Amino acid sequence: MKFKQIIPLLILVMLLTACSDDENVVTRIIVGGPTNPEGNGSDPEFLKDFANFKIGNIVSATKLASSSAGNAKFREVLGNDYNSITAENDMKMANMFPSPDTYDWSDGDAIVAYAKENNLRVHGHALVWHSSIPGWLSSFQGTDAEFEAQIQGYVKATVAHFALEKDAEGNSVVTGWDAVNEYFDGGAIRSSLFTQRIGEDYINKIFTWAREADSDVKLFYNDFNVAGEPVKRAKIIALVNDMISNNIPIDGVGMQMHFNYDWPTSDIPLAIQQISDLGLLVHASELDVRANPNSDITNLTQERAAQQATQYQNTAYYYTTTVPANQQYGITIWGFRDQDSWRFNNGNDWPLLYDNDFNTKASYNGFVEGLKGNI
Ligand code: G3I
Repeated sequence: MKFKQIIPLLILVMLLTACSDDENVVTRIIVGGPTNPEGNGSDPEFLKDFANFKIGNIVSATKLASSSAGNAKFREVLGNDYNSITAENDMKMANMFPSPDTYDWSDGDAIVAYAKENNLRVHGHALVWHSSIPGWLSSFQGTDAEFEAQIQGYVKATVAHFALEKDAEGNSVVTGWDAVNEYFDGGAIRSSLFTQRIGEDYINKIFTWAREADSDVKLFYNDFNVAGEPVKRAKIIALVNDMISNNIPIDGVGMQMHFNYDWPTSDIPLAIQQISDLGLLVHASELDVRANPNSDITNLTQERAAQQATQYQNTAYYYTTTVPANQQYGITIWGFRDQDSWRFNNGNDWPLLYDNDFNTKASYNGFVEGLKGNI
């Protein structure tokens, strides 16, 4: 063999040697990822990698800013597993509307800045909710017209403010808002400060004001037990259809999905199907699954963990396979570690995907299986 013929062979051998060189083998530690990812060799995969839609979780400005070791872990898991965030409490009216005509968006701004820096979407939660009202508003002494003007001013100013921050492509970091949260109480319109001072059609006004403030942001109606209470769901569907017929600018429905390991069961696929059939965006907006709703266990048994995992799997599966791709706004998990959950119940429940050390649980693996379309 002549020297010229050997050159390509030599190059090939050099390349192969370089690739198998230890220095070139990228070892990445799986943190927060599935314990046993399937079908992808040794590459780590995280929640967001299993879905063609956004996977979100909740944050607070304080947590994002904290430099404690625990919070470094939190931010690492957040960055690995998620590409969407929702403020658990910071962007509620009670926090952002401290006194008449006065708005404090500082916590929300910090969250949006973090999202922008880390390529995350922000889902705004929640403009108007009976349960997060500043004290001064509850005891507002002005007329109904003055009350309404306060709400209109707050909604328009807040939506316009959060429309300002854009990502690298020029899209708003805050892509959507829960414009109205929990308008219904079971099958009836909930009596609230807003129905009492503005009237039952306050919901239409909120959506209209929000749209006037930002022509692009996605506006959601958000509620719990959309799966689980068929009568309530029927009311929500009728309301949304009415809003659509009356050109009220609604873009989507948030199904909160605060579930139990054994509830709801057969209603989950039906509910997701019926809400999808509205033709709007669908957000599984606050998913968690209580493992111990009846206080019948004292630690998370393997059996119960498996049942909880199945509930997460079913939910992810039906969302992934039922909602048309162009309507999949995403799935948001309501918390990281069990101890962070509003359903922690002093350590007597374990509702989330990570234990108190951020280790992934069976629920995490179940959720992954559902996202992969396995049931
Ligand atoms: O920040 C104050 C603190 O200063 C004070 O010392 C302490 C005393 O109780 O309260 C703290 O505020 C609490 C806040 O969470 C932050 O921890 C409120 O009392 C408490 O009511 C609030 O609970 C939140 C709840 O909404 C009410 O706003 C939960 O964290 C939050 O997970 C929960 O989320 C709701 C969704 O927004 C809507 N859907 C239902 C879901 C669960 O209730």
